[in-house]
Amino acid sequence: MAERLGLDVDWVEGDWRRGVDPDKVAAVLRSDPSIAAVMVVHNETSTGVTSRIAEIREAIDAAGSEALLLVDTISSLGSIDYRHDEWGVDVTVGCSQKGLMLPAGLGFNAVSDKARAASERARLPRSYWDWKPILEANQAGFWPYTSATNLLYGLREAIAMLREEGLENVYARHRRHAEATRAAVHAWGLEVLCADEREYSASLTAVVVPDGVDADEVRRVILERFDMSLGAGLGKLAGRVFRIGHLGDFNDLMLAGTLCGVEMGLRIAGVPVGDGVEAALGRLALEPVAV
Ligand SMILES: Cc1ncc(COP(=O)(O)O)c(C=O)c1O
Repeated sequence: MAERLGLDVDWVEGDWRRGVDPDKVAAVLRSDPSIAAVMVVHNETSTGVTSRIAEIREAIDAAGSEALLLVDTISSLGSIDYRHDEWGVDVTVGCSQKGLMLPAGLGFNAVSDKARAASERARLPRSYWDWKPILEANQAGFWPYTSATNLLYGLREAIAMLREEGLENVYARHRRHAEATRAAVHAWGLEVLCADEREYSASLTAVVVPDGVDADEVRRVILERFDMSLGAGLGKLAGRVFRIGHLGDFNDLMLAGTLCGVEMGLRIAGVPVGDGVEAALGRLALEPVAV
């Protein structure tokens, strides 16, 4: 997107199994002090890897850089602990359709004073997404354009639900479901795509299928037989992984059903697997939480 907007983007390649490497960020910033912003996805939905945002901020500061830190929290907001102010993020982007349990259609920006000042100086053309008229209308409690009113009613209820449960409990629920999912993956004899346990995602798990197995064929079987849709591997991971989502409005029974569907589907697709569901239920029983 930034490239299409005419910005000069320096891609820092990773191997898709680890999050953004704070040391690499610092090295790139040291090599080019004119870099204006660092753009990072907090929870990478295509791989199930959660980058360490606080450490990336520290790396930016340690490099003596003035770069803004821009973070996409679309698949972590309301599911994984995230701290815009405490971690010194300049722009956080969130949306309605994942942890907030709503249809797609609302977007949110949290903006630091530094980012607002940069936006005043910026020369890129903009219109609908310009913060200025939005902030001015917000002073009076309004939105300058046509509001997605139905979604705002939904948002009010979603936030009430999250508050009722307590954010810490919501995060713990997703962490526990992610741990149980990984227990299933290991018992199946398969591999979790994320290679660094500090960066395991609590909102989804990407599972690597054995060589010679087509993950999309496994997904097709599961969709046809059980009407359950799993996320596909994207880009270079197409056919190599499938993704199990465990975010939002999700409980133990939903997880058990999901993992049963995956286990049955893998066997029907001819992939010999161990007793993943049993392992996951054992993991859940270790730390029973009322949700
Ligand atoms: C990390 C992340 N960023 C951005 C998006 C939104 O992308 P788009 O609006 O193009 O579907 C998604 C998916 O909803 C996502 O998971």
